[in-house]
Amino acid sequence: MFSAKLLTLLAILPLVLSSPVFNNLVLHEQRDGVPDGFVNSGAAPADQVLNLRFGLVQGDMATLEQKLFAVSTPGSPEFGQHLTKEEVEEFVRPAAETTSIVNEFLAANGLTATTISPAGDMLSVSMPVSQASSLFDADFSVFTHQETGQQSVRTLAYSIPAALSGHLDFVHPTITFENPFAHLPVVSSPISPSAAQNIAGNNNLTSRAVPSSCATTITPTCLQDLYGIPTTKATQSSNGLGVSGFIQQFANQADLSTFLASLRPDISSSTAFALQTLDGGENTQTRADAGTEANLDIQYTVGVATGVPTTFISVGNNFQDGALEGFLDIINFLLGESNPPHVLTTSYGQNENTISRALANNLCNAYMQLGARGTSILFASGDGGVSGSQSGRCTTFVPTFPSGCPFMTSVGATTGISPETAADFSGGGFSNFFAQPSYQASAVSTFLKTLGSTNKGKFNTTGRGFPDISAQGENVEIVVDNKFGTVAGTSCSSPIFASVFALLNDELVAAGKPPLGFLNPFLYSTGASALNDVTSGSNPGCNTNGFPAVTGWDPVTGLGTPNFAKLRTAVGL
Ligand SMILES: *[C@@H]1O[C@H](CO)[C@@H](O)[C@H](O)[C@H]1NC(C)=O
Ligand SMILES: *[C@@H]1O[C@H](CO)[C@@H](O)[C@H](O)[C@H]1NC(C)=O
Repeated sequence: MFSAKLLTLLAILPLVLSSPVFNNLVLHEQRDGVPDGFVNSGAAPADQVLNLRFGLVQGDMATLEQKLFAVSTPGSPEFGQHLTKEEVEEFVRPAAETTSIVNEFLAANGLTATTISPAGDMLSVSMPVSQASSLFDADFSVFTHQETGQQSVRTLAYSIPAALSGHLDFVHPTITFENPFAHLPVVSSPISPSAAQNIAGNNNLTSRAVPSSCATTITPTCLQDLYGIPTTKATQSSNGLGVSGFIQQFANQADLSTFLASLRPDISSSTAFALQTLDGGENTQTRADAGTEANLDIQYTVGVATGVPTTFISVGNNFQDGALEGFLDIINFLLGESNPPHVLTTSYGQNENTISRALANNLCNAYMQLGARGTSILFASGDGGVSGSQSGRCTTFVPTFPSGCPFMTSVGATTGISPETAADFSGGGFSNFFAQPSYQASAVSTFLKTLGSTNKGKFNTTGRGFPDISAQGENVEIVVDNKFGTVAGTSCSSPIFASVFALLNDELVAAGKPPLGFLNPFLYSTGASALNDVTSGSNPGCNTNGFPAVTGWDPVTGLGTPNFAKLRTAVGL
């Protein structure tokens, strides 16, 4: 009798273990309240379908991080030995246990998932609001962005089954609110037909002086003179420079030709860029549809990184989550390629506090993966000084995303030519999500000592400091819809510095050496003295003077602007 009972129990035990109870919910993520600028417009319709992303806990990111630093730190025995796609995916792939318990959860609820990342750590799952609300104990509501009227379905908190803790990293979009104001460049002088200046290229590197016109209008020639950027054509076809495009910003080839004909008369005005699209992206060539940001980004890559194969990567609107969803998709798209570009520049971003911590961490890990593969990832640092991606009301400083991520390179802005000073809008500060990486410990501690008690309590002294570097960002001449004009923003600075790295990569590849890859361990060590330190100006915001630009690193201009000749030596050319 007794033993028969025991047998039965033993027989059913494995079954019990393998079908965990998924209804014991534990709070997983929440935000303090509705973000500034949004209002709750009431419950979301129960039958509205949500296209959710499940981020699974990734395999062994700690070891991948060690690998990233080993291949990116000058002097390390593995320096330059970037990982392959397969090697990276081995680290990222979730544990078998994770995949199987998440699959069980899906099956138990009649859900099917599509794997949308190469390593299998990201799933796409659709379900109605009613089901999502009960599975995750969430209160999905319609939130309206007051200024734009844009509506999105979000919840301020959600739970996950306790059995999925340690396996399901996040469900998205839930508590992440998109910022409808990606930091686009500010048009600082009317884009008008008259402003074109034909500054003929003087290609004699030893005798070039910076023309005085560069004090009021920045052109590719000004940048070549100021930073010593070569005007000669790159030679390596395997070298690539990627330019991210979002929110229906189209890069116009005819405008590029007009720009080159006037401002780079030494190269063919028909120099073209390649196009890649995802999420239904396109690159409409109707001249009136040209985007200021997209044109800026393509004119200051093709027009500065002379001869480097440049690709505009246009992310369309076939996703549910505004600019952020594009951020996830473009990175998974590039991780899926066997030869992603050696340099990627992105002039979009948003305030860190609008994004869920888990999601921010996942995106940051994606930059880690691309970096380990040998891609340098540059982002504009934001245009609101210490107040975030755009100027706005704030009592404590607002860091931007992804500049707080330690695995990418954040680019701030400068203005003027003698001396080059900090642009007052240059986004900079300290992350609240990501701790200070060791590569910048010494540079940041020196800055904090210099700063003393200024701005005490307004920023997180233990967070990752940004930007890392800077470049010109004011009075930058571009062509939009066949008209010349000038723009301002860190949106200018990121493509400019990306072009410098792309040209260095061209020479490295030609010399049989690996491309630069993740830049920061180099920039904060042997690279620092190859930059022009910017020591004046500041980035005011939140009713303060912001941070000052000082000798050495500062959270306004980073380590400084490019000196091509010195960088060439520093990278071993
Ligand atoms: C470049 O400038 C230097 C210094 O003025 C001069 O000696 C040299 O001849 C010039 N080279 C060319 C090719 O014009
Ligand atoms: C400050 O930054 C650290 C990371 O270095 C983070 O863990 C902490 O939560 C942040 N503090 C606040 C108040 O956001």
